[in-house]
This record gives sequence, C-alpha cells and structure tokens, in this order.
Amino acid sequence: MCQAHPTTPVAGHTGGVTPELPDECCITVRHTGPLHGEVVVPGAKNSVLKLMAASLLADGAYELTNVPAIVDVSIMADLLRAIGVRVWLDEPGIVTIINTGKLTPVAPFELVERIRASINVLGPLLARCGHVRLSMPGGDDFGTRPIDMHIAGLEAMGATFRFGDDYVEAVAERLHGAEITFDFPSVGATENLVTAAVFAKGVTTIHNAAREPEIIDLCEFLVAMGAQIDGAGTSTLRIRGVERDQMHACEHETVPDRIQAATYIAACAVAGGELELLNAKPAHMQMALSRFSDMGMEFEQLPYGLRVTAPDRLRSADIATLPYPGIATDYKPVIIAMLSVAEGVAIVTENLYPGRFRYLDELVRLGADIRLDGHHAIVRGVPRLVGAQVVSHDIRAGAAMVVAGLAAEGTTTITGVHHIDRGYDDLVGRLSAVGADITRHEP
Ligand code: UD1
Repeated sequence: MCQAHPTTPVAGHTGGVTPELPDECCITVRHTGPLHGEVVVPGAKNSVLKLMAASLLADGAYELTNVPAIVDVSIMADLLRAIGVRVWLDEPGIVTIINTGKLTPVAPFELVERIRASINVLGPLLARCGHVRLSMPGGDDFGTRPIDMHIAGLEAMGATFRFGDDYVEAVAERLHGAEITFDFPSVGATENLVTAAVFAKGVTTIHNAAREPEIIDLCEFLVAMGAQIDGAGTSTLRIRGVERDQMHACEHETVPDRIQAATYIAACAVAGGELELLNAKPAHMQMALSRFSDMGMEFEQLPYGLRVTAPDRLRSADIATLPYPGIATDYKPVIIAMLSVAEGVAIVTENLYPGRFRYLDELVRLGADIRLDGHHAIVRGVPRLVGAQVVSHDIRAGAAMVVAGLAAEGTTTITGVHHIDRGYDDLVGRLSAVGADITRHEP
C-alpha cells in the first residue's frame, strides 16, 4: 500500500479532494506554481545506452560519466553482463565497464524485450564476434517498431540473417564496407551500422543518416576508442574500417538529455516562474526552443546552461515531429501537456510513430480538450485542468502527466511509474526542489 494518507475515495476527477491512493507505486501532483530555482539536467538515456552497447567492440576498462540514474541503464548493464562484460553502477553518475573479450554473443529474451536500445548490441557483436543472436526488440509500446533498415544495411555489408519466431540471428566472418542509403534517417539503424562498420574491411558510407546529438556522442565515443569516422552530425557518415587491435577502451562524458531538459521547460511553462537548467545544451534543441518561444516562453543562454522564463499564459502553436534537427517525437507528449492549457488551438502532427498518441485519453481525463484525427491531434487549450487518477503507458507519456498535473486543480495521481523510472532521473525530487507539490508514494 502506498505510504500516504488517503481520505475520501473518489471516482474520476479529484479537484479539491485528496484521493485514495492505488495499491502500487504512484506519483501525486498538485497544482502549484510558480517554480523557481535550478535543475541539473542529467545525461541522455538515448545516448548512454548506445555507449554501453558500443563498449562490446573493444577490450579494456571504460568509464562513462554523466550517466543518469534510470532503470534502462540497469537493464542494459544486465544485458552486457549476460553477454560476458563486467559492469558496475556503484558510484552516482558513473558506469564502469570491463570488457575482457570473453563474450557470448547471445542476448537473452528476458532482457532484450525490456528495452528498445537492446537492438544496439547487434552491430557491435556482429562486428566483434562474427555472429550474434538476439530476441526481437522491446521498449516503449507505441506501435510496431521494425528493424528492416538495420537488417538491409548489415546485409549490404555482407551479413547473413536467419529469423526464428522470436529471434534474429546474423553471421558475417568479416563485414565489408558498403554504400548505404536510408529511406528514412533512423536513429537505431544509423547507430547499428556505424558500430558494425568500425571493423569492416574498407569504407562504409551511410547516406541520409540520423543527425541527433546522441549520434554525435556515439561517434565521438567510437573515435576516442580508435574508430575512423567522418561526418558525425551531418546526413553523410563515412566510416573507414580499422583492425580489431586498433580499438581500445576509453573514458567518456555522456551528452546532456535534451528530452529531460524539455520536460523541465514544460513544467515551468505550465506552472509559471523561472528555472535555470544547468548543463542544458540549447544548441541541441533549437527547433523546440523556437516553438516554445512562439508559445511565449523566454530563454537566455547561460555559460552553464539555459534560463527559462514562463509567460502568464502560454499561446498555442502548431507542432510537427520530424527527425533531427526537427522537433523530436519524444518531446511531443510534454508539448501536448503544455498546449492543453495554452490560449488557442494547435494542431500537433506525429510523423514518426502513428501509434504514439495513446496517452491522450489520460490527458482528456484531466480535462484537456483534445481530438485525434489520424496522425494529428487538435488541442484546444483550456484555462485549467482538473486532477484525476491517470496511468502512464510509456516514459514520455508519464512525464506529460506530471506536467499536466502541475496545471490541474486538486490532485493528479499517476500510476505506471515504472515507465517514468526507465527514462527520468529523479523527476519527482528535481521538480519538488524547485517548488512543485509532487510526491512519490512507494507501495
Ligand atoms: C530512437 C529513440 C526513441 C525516439 C526515436 C526517434 C532510443 C532508445 N530510442 O528510437 O526514443 O523516439 O529514436 O527519435 O534511442 N523504422 C523502420 N525501420 C527500421 C528502423 C526504424 O521503419 O529499420 C521506423 C520506425 O518504426 C519509426 C521511425 O523509423 O517509425 C523512427 O525510428 P528510429 O529513428 O529508428 O527510432 P529508434 O532508434 O527506434
């Protein structure tokens, strides 16, 4: 049972009444504001998991810093351990990895099904061991997430695939360079092909590659390990294969998490006030910041981060998700939470994951006026939301409910907290420290 003090059981909206808490871990948020203070933006989940997977490529002792304290890092650590790597998470913010080269290139189902990033061991294991077997990837539940581009790219480099009911197996004695053009700049496929190409014979060129800051971070990590990569951050990546003994372990600081940064911007936007986001990198989120400015937010770049100031009331602005440098699909749930209380009507278009609107029903339970039309959400801002019990079905949806809860009268109770824990490093503690009325309740 949660350790809080339930009073009156309620059905539906809970404005003004403290609701009975569910019999599982939950977060309660009450309308608060304005927020004031500093938030340290942690390292990026979508980078550190790939860095950890890339450590499979070369023997030695690695130290990754600025590592967020999130569940997905522990799952990736377990996955690496199952493959034969030693991993320590004892010190806050640091992952230590020792790869002795005694690897079993098999990724077990019970770990792979838990995080999408487990697909990132495919490229390194194939390049390093010449074969790999892994279960089909899991991760957030937002529609089918195919890996056809990963497979076609690796086949072009000489890999042969075999497919079982719930696994993929790939073999390649030594991969060779190839010219690969993606139909779409897939983040995961770019990462897998880059890591596979570091030992390939000859040059691999990836056209229409993903350009995300996390891809640049991975390429910088690989170059520090001895890889030869040009074009990181552009649409054309060129990887000249090196011999296995030319790659070695290294130390690396994980890039700050632009999605967590945007979540604190959204919290400030709906609650009001002013926050300093320490370590935030505005250059990595320019398109999103420009749209937030259209909504009335003010930003000042600081030597050590970003100052964010909220208007009295947000204005609506249309949003379309696109690959980087466009507005990331991962920002969208917290942006919709902002738009739910903005003045005016906005159309939000999802161009990456058609199914990624599942959380809208929950925002509607909080009083948001949202209509779904295909891959567009039409959001009509209301002055105030109303607290209710809602459930988070994925990482960013959970964050959106926390943000919405800050703008809702009464108490918002969020379950499905394990999803939030997968990607947010102490969201509750960080928001609470800047004035939010938010509490985590353990069962
Ligand atoms: C990564 C992020 C995820 C983010 C997404 C897009 C991680 C762990 N996850 O996911 O948070 O939302 O980038 O920014 O870093 N696709 C195919 N075939 C493929 C690969 C992808 O059709 O072989 C499609 C996907 O179904 C999706 C789109 O391409 O519609 C984007 O996928 P991709 O960029 O690969 O995202 P992920 O790497 O899975």
